[in-house]
Amino acid sequence: MIKIVGLNKDQLKGFTKTEAFENFEFAPISELREVSHIHNPRAKPEDNLLFLAYENDCLAGYLGMLPDDVTDRNGHKVHFGWLSTLFVSEKFRGKQIAQKLLYAAEESYNKNLMITEFTPSAGRLYRKIGMFEDLKTKAAVRYYYKSNLAELLPSKKDIFLKNKIWLKRFDSFINIFIPYLSKGKNHIYKISRSVDDDLSRFISVQAKNPIARSSEDFQWMLNFPWLSQKKEESDYLFSSYSEDYEMFWVVVYENQQIVSAMLCSVRNSHLKVLYYFGNSKVVSEVLPKIIRKYNVKMMTLYDDHLNHSINDLPKAIYKRPLKREYLVHKGFKEKLGKNFDFDFTDGDGDFSFT
Ligand SMILES: CC(C)(COP(=O)(O)OP(=O)(O)OC[C@H]1O[C@@H](n2cnc3c(N)ncnc32)[C@H](O)[C@@H]1OP(=O)(O)O)[C@@H](O)C(=O)NCCC(=O)NCCS
Repeated sequence: MIKIVGLNKDQLKGFTKTEAFENFEFAPISELREVSHIHNPRAKPEDNLLFLAYENDCLAGYLGMLPDDVTDRNGHKVHFGWLSTLFVSEKFRGKQIAQKLLYAAEESYNKNLMITEFTPSAGRLYRKIGMFEDLKTKAAVRYYYKSNLAELLPSKKDIFLKNKIWLKRFDSFINIFIPYLSKGKNHIYKISRSVDDDLSRFISVQAKNPIARSSEDFQWMLNFPWLSQKKEESDYLFSSYSEDYEMFWVVVYENQQIVSAMLCSVRNSHLKVLYYFGNSKVVSEVLPKIIRKYNVKMMTLYDDHLNHSINDLPKAIYKRPLKREYLVHKGFKEKLGKNFDFDFTDGDGDFSFT
C-alpha cells in the first residue's frame, strides 16, 4: 500500500533533525534546502514543499516542489510549483510510485506545474504519463575560456573520476599557456552579496519577464543557498555540496547611477549569469573582468540578447550550443491562455540554487 504525505512550511521546519529522518535509508531533502524552502517568499503556508511516498511505512521516494508566481496576460498573478527533485529508491521502482507523487503534486497545485532541468530518464517518464506538454526549448551557448578537463570528464567515465587529481594538474599546467582573450571595457562596477536600497530601486523599475523576481526574492536566493561548502556524508541524490560556489551581484555604474546589474553564480570555475537588468551591452563589456577575477574556465548563457550582444566579446577558445527543455502541465498552459509567452530567464526554476 503506497501512501503519499505532503509537508508544508510548518511541517518541513526541523524535519531533517527528527528521529524519523535519521532512520530513513536515504535523505529526501538536505538541511540547507529545508531552510531555503521555508524562507521562500513565494511559498504560501499551505503549499506542499516536499511529498514523501511510503510503502508500508518505509520511505520509498520523494518529490520536492519550489512554489513560484507568474503574471498572466491580464496582469493576474497565478501561483504554481516547479518540480524540483524526483526520486524513487531502486528497490521500489516500476511500482508507479513516481506517478503517484506526480498526481499528488498535480492535485495540490491545482495542475499549475512546470518542469525544467530534468534527466533524460525523468523526461521519458513525464512524457509517458501524458500530463505535460513540451514548450519551446531555450537555446544556450557554453563558452570555454580555459582547459577544464577535471570538471568535464569525470562524469563521462570512471577512469577520469579516479584520475581527477591528474586532470586538475594537467588543467593547471596547460592553462598557464592559455591567456584570456578579452580584457573587457573599463566600466565602474561593484560586487555585492546583498541587495541594497539603490539596487532594489533600480531592479524595481526594470522590465521583467512573467516571473518578475523582486529584490526580496533575490535576497532570499543569496541568503539561503542549497550548496554547502562543508562536505557531509549524505545519501542525498541531488546537489548539496560544492567547495567552490559563490553567488553575487555585479552592479555597473555610470555617473554614479546604476546602469546595469547582473546576478551571477560561479561553481567550480563555471560562471552563469542568472539574471541581468539594464543595458545588455554594458553587461557583456563587464563580463571579461568577472571572468578574469573569478578565474572562470567556462560560462553558460541561456539569454538570446546577452549571447547576441556578447558576439565575440569576451572571446572564448571554444563555444558549444546547448538547449534547455521545459515541460508545462497541460491544464496550467490552458489556464494561461494561447498567447501566453513562457519567457523564462536563466535563473528561473531551481537553476539559481545549483
Ligand atoms: C525516474 C524515477 C523517479 C521513476 O520512478 P518509478 O517509481 O520507477 O516510476 P513509475 O513506476 O511511477 O513509472 C510510471 C510510468 O513511467 C514509466 N517510466 C518510468 N521511468 C521510465 C523511464 N526511465 N523511461 C521510460 N518510461 C519510464 C513506467 O514504465 C511507468 O509506465 P506504466 O504506467 O506504463 O507502467 C526513478 O527511476 C528514479 O528515481 N530515477 C533516478 C532519479 C532521477 O533521475 N530523478 C529525476 C531527476 S530530474
